[in-house]
Amino acid sequence: MTRDKLTAYIHTWGCQMNVRDSEHIKGILKGEGYDISDTPEGASLVVLNTCSIREKAEQKFLSELGRLSLQKKKHPELKIAVSGCIAQQQGRALLKSHPSVDFSFGPQNIFGLKEFLYDENRTAFTKENYEAEDEKLQTPHRDNDLRAWVNIMYGCNNYCSYCVVPYTRGRERSRPFEHIITEIRDLAGIGYKEITLLGQNVNSYNGGCTFPELLTMISNIEGILRIRFITSHPKDLTVQLASTIGETKKICNHIHLPVQSGSSSVLARMNRKYTYEEYFCKIQLLRKHVPDIAITTDIIAGFPGETDSDHKETVRALKEIEFDGIFAFKYSQRPNTKATGMEHQLSDSIKSQRLAEILTVSDTITERINKSLEGRCFEVMTEGKNETNSENKWFGRTTSNKIVSFLPGENTERGRVVMVKIIEGFKHSLEGELVV
Ligand code: SAH
Ligand code: SF4
Ligand code: F3S
Repeated sequence: MTRDKLTAYIHTWGCQMNVRDSEHIKGILKGEGYDISDTPEGASLVVLNTCSIREKAEQKFLSELGRLSLQKKKHPELKIAVSGCIAQQQGRALLKSHPSVDFSFGPQNIFGLKEFLYDENRTAFTKENYEAEDEKLQTPHRDNDLRAWVNIMYGCNNYCSYCVVPYTRGRERSRPFEHIITEIRDLAGIGYKEITLLGQNVNSYNGGCTFPELLTMISNIEGILRIRFITSHPKDLTVQLASTIGETKKICNHIHLPVQSGSSSVLARMNRKYTYEEYFCKIQLLRKHVPDIAITTDIIAGFPGETDSDHKETVRALKEIEFDGIFAFKYSQRPNTKATGMEHQLSDSIKSQRLAEILTVSDTITERINKSLEGRCFEVMTEGKNETNSENKWFGRTTSNKIVSFLPGENTERGRVVMVKIIEGFKHSLEGELVV
């Protein structure tokens, strides 16, 4: 049964950019009189905010859409909208193949949602660069009241040969720094303590200043205690960025720097525009300027034509660099991308084998790093009760983005930075105790 009041449920797949887009969607819908629900049951509108980075993400969306289509048979008044990266690439085809979908809109069309909602035609909205008007349309909804996502740029120009993002999010566009600073000042004014700047390649930011200059400006905003950013492309990482991170206390001790492969010949075919040796020099540069910096990365296992010895080079790279953590994925063939048409696509079993080895090697390293932190003290920003344990522990994050659980004290309210001594390091978390 539909509830009396208009309610909307938004299901989000994919990266932080999509998470932020969903916040915009929720904000717009709230403005149109919808309550936001955290289940699809009884909702009058469901928005599926999709990701097409790998086939698996697409399959998850299709199975959710199948489930909802059945629900719509029973409740024909249910509206289904599809947004995000799949909507941009396949919106029209989707409307044809799925009569249950009322309309679709790509990531660059979110700010048109206000009008799309009342459009009676079943349309796939895919106009490019629609969000250029974002300053007028910033919406007030955010899922978290302590840590906020802030877009600094949209799109991507890099055309890594495996990746759909340039096709779904369009050409790279930077927001003017004045808009970003105003947004963050406003966030600080209502109590936000941590900001994560979002872009597919933040190091090529050019909205009126360089990325390190932008970071310095943000660090002067009173009330903001921590600044994070994702993602950095290794080819554009400069000495200026490394020294700015090292010199600016508010910039967190963490960088996510996707390497993708340890083999320079694979990197060339991926169109990453750096060799493994160049990547390794950037790591040394970062560690020179920020000795304690935590470094995480992304790896693709089984890129077309990847030989056994290419794979061994990736494993060797993991051991040489010792990342604090990795995200590793089996290569997935994506529509329109160059790598899809490359020769020597590997079998799923080889990709799985290689992925498993990558994960085993990296888990051992992560655990060793976390163990080496035992006995050391870190500043931790308290986030809240740790729902996964029964001992009433709270959790927070170090500036290196590691999650620490600890028993709270008198002053451990959400948002406060406290000193915590690490008692035990595990693969995916740290246990600590308050230092008073
Ligand atoms: N802009 C970011 C990454 C965005 S996508 C960057 O360039 O670093 C996040 C990660 O998904 C990528 O780093 C890559 O490791 C992975 N990825 C992208 N396309 C993929 C594909 N076709 N198959 C498997 N993994 C993929
Ligand atoms: Fe994709 Fe490469 Fe752009 Fe990252 S830099 S979004 S991997 S094309
Ligand atoms: Fe997915 Fe689009 Fe992000 S493809 S990873 S939601 S940019």
